[in-house]
Amino acid sequence: MKTTILKIDPENPDITLIRKAAKVIKNGGLVVFPTETVYGLGANAFDTEACKKIFKAKRRPADNPLIVHVASFEQIYDVAEYIPKTAEKFMKKLMPGPFTMILKKKSIVSDVVTAGMNSVAIRFPEHPIAKLLIREAGVPIAAPSANISGRPSPTKAEHVIEDMYGKVDIIIDGGDTLYGLESTIINFTTDPPTLLRPGPLYPEQLQEIDYVYIPEIAKGLKSQERPLSPGMKYRHYAPSKKLVLVEDLSKMKEVLEKYKDLDPIVLCPKERIELYKGYKIIVVGSLENKFSIAKNLFDVLRAVDKMEGGIVVAEGFDDKGILFSVMNRLRKAASEVIR
Ligand code: TXA
Ligand code: MG
Repeated sequence: MKTTILKIDPENPDITLIRKAAKVIKNGGLVVFPTETVYGLGANAFDTEACKKIFKAKRRPADNPLIVHVASFEQIYDVAEYIPKTAEKFMKKLMPGPFTMILKKKSIVSDVVTAGMNSVAIRFPEHPIAKLLIREAGVPIAAPSANISGRPSPTKAEHVIEDMYGKVDIIIDGGDTLYGLESTIINFTTDPPTLLRPGPLYPEQLQEIDYVYIPEIAKGLKSQERPLSPGMKYRHYAPSKKLVLVEDLSKMKEVLEKYKDLDPIVLCPKERIELYKGYKIIVVGSLENKFSIAKNLFDVLRAVDKMEGGIVVAEGFDDKGILFSVMNRLRKAASEVIR
């Protein structure tokens, strides 16, 4: 397939280019677009055949549902059967933004989008390009993260080009995404609401709005528990290299020694590189600005595959604030967790 790359400045978006992409959506095509979390792979949410193409392009299992993106509160009512009072409270505080609500779906939403579930995931992004694209398309846009299934989500145009060039009609290059982690997902079809995926909005912030149940599984630990969200059972965000996550930092040296024949790459924040003299190192942000760790994480998980070295040994963080969400992704990316 021929892929057209459209470079659009998010601060001053060229509406002619946005309309060109919106037309492709209306005609049943695929458009990759930036949001403030990660890049999305979009199609008209009301066009079942177009949505099937999403699963094919990213090799996503059909039982893993998509998020429906809207550009107004009115559009939420087009796809959701009913909005409970608590959901409305979160919606008014957090939308538009890096937040997704699971609500009971209207029958107009196809089973392909929801993977046969009677609920639908809804997000109202804040990114100017995403908002304009949805508005100009005139329909909600179904979009998962624009990576090949299992790979780290794309936070830069080059990541999308790597994974999606030749598989979609248009890639909008709108520069790096702001948060670098996918949206926070809360399921409002349960009482109390349940956190399914932490993201740019982390537990402490959510609890200030209203009570949300935080299951152990939201930490990203592999568990025997039945997955609460279909996406939870798949391996995620993983580099091709084996990644060992060391949560007890006092064990770093021991783990590095154990894997020394594999020529390990140490993944750690800027402040700690001195400790690993003589090793290959990749820096993931700074402890002084914890959001930089979230923002760089997926880029770093892609970059290690291009480095020499046979295994990644990553430092863990405390499950606090935004690092709670970072740890969720790291644990899912890890093939071994040392606690
Ligand atoms: O920030 C984001 O959320 C990005 C951007 C593009 O909006 N999208 C994204 O989509 O991360 P995706 O498909 O990669 O992750 C959506 C997750 C999946 O784990 C899926 O299983 C879950 O949401 N999900 C979707 N619909 C659901 C539903 N009805 N019930 C429970 N989980 C659902
Ligand atoms: Mg994804």
